[in-house]
Order: sequence, then C-alpha cells, then structure tokens
Amino acid sequence: MKGSTIATALTLSASSVLAAPNLAARDDVTAITVKGNAFFKGNERFYMRGVDYQPGGSSDLADPIADADSCKRDIEKFTDLGLNTIRVYSVDNSKDHDECMNALADAGIYLVLDVNTPDYSINRENPAPSYNDVYLQYVFATVDKFAKYKNTLAFFSGNEVINDGPSSVTAPYVKAVTRDLRAYMRARDYRQIPVGYSAADVDTNRLEMAEYMNCGTDEERSDFFAFNDYSWCSPSSFETSGWDQKVKNFTGYGLPLFLSEFGCNTNTRDFGEVASLYSTEMTGVYSGGLVYEYSQEPSDYGLVQIKNGQVTDLDDFDALKSAFSKTDDPSGDGGYNKTGGANPCPARNSPNWDVDSNDDLPVMPAPAQEYFDNGAGDGPGFSGPGSQNAGTQSTSNTTSGSGDSGTGTSSSSSASGSSDTTEDSAAGLRIPSLTMAPAFVGLVTIVSSMVGAGVIFI
Ligand SMILES: *[C@@H]1O[C@H](CO)[C@@H](O)[C@H](O)[C@H]1NC(C)=O
Ligand SMILES: *[C@@H]1O[C@H](CO)[C@@H](O)[C@H](O)[C@H]1NC(C)=O
Ligand SMILES: *[C@@H]1O[C@H](CO)[C@@H](O)[C@H](O)[C@H]1NC(C)=O
Repeated sequence: MKGSTIATALTLSASSVLAAPNLAARDDVTAITVKGNAFFKGNERFYMRGVDYQPGGSSDLADPIADADSCKRDIEKFTDLGLNTIRVYSVDNSKDHDECMNALADAGIYLVLDVNTPDYSINRENPAPSYNDVYLQYVFATVDKFAKYKNTLAFFSGNEVINDGPSSVTAPYVKAVTRDLRAYMRARDYRQIPVGYSAADVDTNRLEMAEYMNCGTDEERSDFFAFNDYSWCSPSSFETSGWDQKVKNFTGYGLPLFLSEFGCNTNTRDFGEVASLYSTEMTGVYSGGLVYEYSQEPSDYGLVQIKNGQVTDLDDFDALKSAFSKTDDPSGDGGYNKTGGANPCPARNSPNWDVDSNDDLPVMPAPAQEYFDNGAGDGPGFSGPGSQNAGTQSTSNTTSGSGDSGTGTSSSSSASGSSDTTEDSAAGLRIPSLTMAPAFVGLVTIVSSMVGAGVIFI
C-alpha cells in the first residue's frame, strides 16, 4: 500500500531533522480550514466522511486513541470504509497520543475531538458552578496536547448539553466555553483549530441553538455548527426524512454545518442517506457527517464487533462501505456559500428557547487568565478529581464578546472571527511548531511521572 511507503519516508525525514528519534507530529498534513459555510483542504472543498469512534460505548469512559495498537487495528477498518474523519468523545489528557494521531495522519484521517469528559464538563443541572477555572484547565490542557497535530480537524466545546427546551438556559455557558477555547488558541499562538458545538437531535430548538452560536461578536461566534440527526430511517428519501426541510431552514446559515451523529437503526440500515448527504441537494449547506458508531455496543448501532481484541465486520459495515464507495463528492465547490458570517441572536421563545436575545455571556473565571500567559500545564486525565464543584466561578456577565475578566492578561486583540480562522489556519502551515513538540511532550511526560497527574492544579 502506498501509505506505508509514505510513512517510512516521513519517519526518516522527521528523525533526521530533529536529530532525536522522537515521534513528532506529522508536518506534511494539510490542515482543514473554514471558508464561508464550508471546510477546505487547501483549495479543495472538504466533506467529512466519518464515524463516531467510541469503543466501550457512552457509559464506559475510555480513550480509544491513547492505545496505539487498537488504534492501528481500527485504522485498517476506517480505511476499508473510505473514511477521512473520526470523532472521539473524550480523551485522557494525561496520556500521549502521538502514535495513534500520526498513524491516523498517515491514513489521511482527521480527528474531531470533544474536549470534555464526564467529570470535566458543564453541568446542565447547575451550570454556573461548573464553569470554573479547574474545568477550563482541563480543556485547555487538552487543546495543548492536540493543537500540534495538523490532523486535528475540530474541537467540540460541548456535546448535547442542551437536550430540551428548559436546558437551553445552559447555552450561554456553552458559548462562553467556545469563546474561551478560541481565545486560548490565539493567546498561545496555536493554529486556530475550528471550535463548535454538537447539538442533540432536538427539533424544538435546533435552529435557535445554531443561530445563537453564530450571533454576536466574532470573538464569541463558533467556527462551525453540528447536530445529531436520526430522522432518516431506511428505507427513506430526502423528502420523506424531512432533510429537504432542514436544508431549506439552514440555507443562508453562515457557518459550516455537519452531522455529528447519524444513522437511524430502526430498520435494517442501507445508508441511503449517504447518497443525499454528499449530493448537491445538500452540499450547499452541509459538509458531510459522522456515522454513529464504529463499534457494536448495547445501543446496537455498531459497524463492527470487537471481542477479545478481534474485530469482526457486521452487516452495517458492508452497507456503509458500499454506500460510501458508490458516492463521490460533488465536483467543484459543491455550491457552498462563500460569504458566510453572523446572524442576529434568536429571540427568547420559552419554553423551547429560554435565552435572552441580548447575548450576555459569563466572563471567564479570573484564575483561568494565567493559562493564557503560561499554558495550562499538565492535564489531570481521567483519574483527576473532577471540576464540577471546584475552583472559582465567573463573577459577572459581559456582552463585549471577549471573555476578559478584567485582570488585564487576556489577549483578545487579534480576534476577528471566522475569516480570521481561515488566515490563521493557513498561516499555521508555516509555523515551525514541529520542532518544539517533542521537547514539550518529553517535559510533560517527565513532570507527570514525577509529580503524578492532577496534583499541580488542586
Ligand atoms: C423549519 O422551519 C420551520 C419554520 O421555522 C419550522 O416550523 C419547521 O419545524 C422547521 N423544519 C425542520 C425540519 O427543522
Ligand atoms: C450566504 O450567507 C450569508 C451570511 O449568512 C447570507 O446572508 C446569504 O443569504 C447566504 N447566501 C445564500 C445564497 O444562501
Ligand atoms: C449571567 O447570565 C446568566 C445566564 O444568562 C444568568 O443566569 C446569571 O444570573 C447572570 N449573572 C450575573 C452576575 O448577572
């Protein structure tokens, strides 16, 4: 296979440049950027063809990309399916991911990563205390780990935090986290990896949530929006599923849009939605999506069965593989909207949408400012004590867009929104961050093995 020749060449050149045979992040990967309402790989439109990768299921917390062997085993399957993207729901930020991330890069596969874990996340039951500096340290430390990989495609700042009308009161916190992650990458001089939210399959406020994440100043707006959609149940069609109406409703929306989970399993799946999703009836508005999910779990959405480390294809694997192989991307630019841009904030419409249209957001909790200057330090990982009632909360709200708490250390001056994303991402290709990565990784490893995870920031 061509990939292995390339891999060998890369390893050789990387080690000769760096003198030490450390694993470094692959530098020859083309980072994905945002233009208008679409993703681009260089000058080519990029459509996600992905799966949600969550072996162990949603109830068993695991980091599938910290284990290089199982990761490489599964990459063979991803390649067989014809994928270019995987989504991972949680990573242990005390662990190293170089080997898996580089193997993914060699296979041409990008990562969409949720920065949260069950213990480090916004709590929809009581959001204010959970938005604190201990929480932000975790997610910033995750960004520190993954910003160096050019095949990190995007970060999810939240996943299904809002799951009905009443829980929409949590939306300002989700938006604040999105703002903070973007500001953190600017302050740390990282590539501006796109940040957005993954919304639950909730019809009653999907459009408001999307509009809310794209209203206000450029500093607080997302770089994309994603939602889960299980409404196409085979056998179905563009019209029967209602996807035609969603395309209509999202036409004119100024951010890239994709499905963060799809693949209704009510009936035998034929993945007929794939032909629609990558056709010009949708690509003016959508940029592909992620099939739920790679491995068979109790919820019965799996493409493969994993047992004692052995992977077996299920019927759905063949159905999806066949659907992908029969479906090319549209030629040209797929009819994307080159303008993009903000929309007005949605009006309050309770009980479905219970958020003020004045767009007040909590300021970033003050102690988190130091991470902007010094980096977040060691991530506490899955064994950390959790953040939901820890640290210092936000003390006021702001409509200014910047999350600056007024301590004067926040760097938000270079903010200019999604057009900025494109330029920064392109510029990121030239930043020689590669040479710094091994030293940084080495240091983290030494410090965490001496001190132990989680001690530093308690
Ligand atoms: C599209 O928007 C209309 C008008 O706001 C709404 O009634 C309808 O439910 C939406 N359809 C879908 C599929 O989201
Ligand atoms: C393109 O996006 C802009 C900004 O959201 C919007 O105003 C415009 O109507 C869109 N154009 C089309 C053809 O959808
Ligand atoms: C800030 O906004 C949140 C969410 O809208 C609200 O619940 C909270 O009371 C506000 N806090 C202050 C200090 O105004």
